[in-house]
Amino acid sequence: MDAGIPMRRLGQSGVLVPALGVGTNRWGSRSRPAEELQGVFSASIDAGAGLLDTAEIYQLGGSERAIGQCARRDARPVQVVAKFAPYPYRVSARSFHRALQGALDRLGLEAVDLYLVHFPYSPRGIRWLMDRLAEAAHDGRARAVGVSNFSARQMRLAADRLDRHGVALAANEVQYSLFHRDPERNGVLEACRDLDVALIAYRPLAGGRARAEGSPLDRAVAGVARERGKTPAQIGLSWLLSRDPRVVAIPGATRVEHLRENLGAVGLALSEDELAALDRARG
Ligand SMILES: NC(=O)c1ccc[n+]([C@@H]2O[C@H](COP(=O)([O-])OP(=O)(O)OC[C@H]3O[C@@H](n4cnc5c(N)ncnc54)[C@H](OP(=O)(O)O)[C@@H]3O)[C@@H](O)[C@H]2O)c1
Repeated sequence: MDAGIPMRRLGQSGVLVPALGVGTNRWGSRSRPAEELQGVFSASIDAGAGLLDTAEIYQLGGSERAIGQCARRDARPVQVVAKFAPYPYRVSARSFHRALQGALDRLGLEAVDLYLVHFPYSPRGIRWLMDRLAEAAHDGRARAVGVSNFSARQMRLAADRLDRHGVALAANEVQYSLFHRDPERNGVLEACRDLDVALIAYRPLAGGRARAEGSPLDRAVAGVARERGKTPAQIGLSWLLSRDPRVVAIPGATRVEHLRENLGAVGLALSEDELAALDRARG
């Protein structure tokens, strides 16, 4: 991989990923042409940011299929985060393993780098879900396993249960951005530090909305961006990556120019004054 993007650990799993990857929840929809996605896919690998975040529920498998198609045209290795949706009717171990196999088949892979439980609600409970994740880790189809949208308490329960199987909780994927700082208040970031778990930040651009004319925080971000000759998106991503070495950001992109812009956040260090100005503007 290119030396430009720093690598970060997924907890104690032994898996390293680039600090910046690509969210693909809009990949595979009719309005996203395959050629453009191929461009994003290959450019992310060129830049050393070939970490793709997907889930079986994105575009009803279309996101996974789009990644599989891109990987057939550009066979260089990429890393993939996939997710199991614990729907209420999925109560058997067989249904879990079929879901994982379905994802692997759509992706055209034998293993994913990280397999997450997408949300904590299942009639079988968190312990049962972790027992299944441990099976996926042990049978080699998931190089690392983790959770998404889990609270600090739920993370501790998950980590404890996986530990009984000798498997590390590698990550919790939660919403986190300059505009949505809940993980700093609800104990999730602290639990990531205590348990040594990666925090994968989803919606790191707060949905990519143009914000120049909005709240005091929007104006502060725009001001720092102007002074540094950067864009607001780059300031937001730089801020996020500086929060903790455990943070990995997966900005969604279906357009190559967005990917390139986001990659421009790497290596940009905000000063203490700039960070303080952003904190003050939160209001
Ligand atoms: N685990 C979960 O429950 C969960 C929930 C939500 C999302 N996610 C994951 O997190 C990823 C990111 O979240 P998200 O896509 O909802 O939100 P986001 O990353 O905050 O924003 C993505 C949006 O911003 C646009 N964009 C990208 N780069 C930009 C830039 N430099 N300037 C302006 N706009 C830009 C994208 O446009 P284009 O598409 O046109 O490039 C897209 O519309 C998802 O793709 C998904 O993989 C996970």
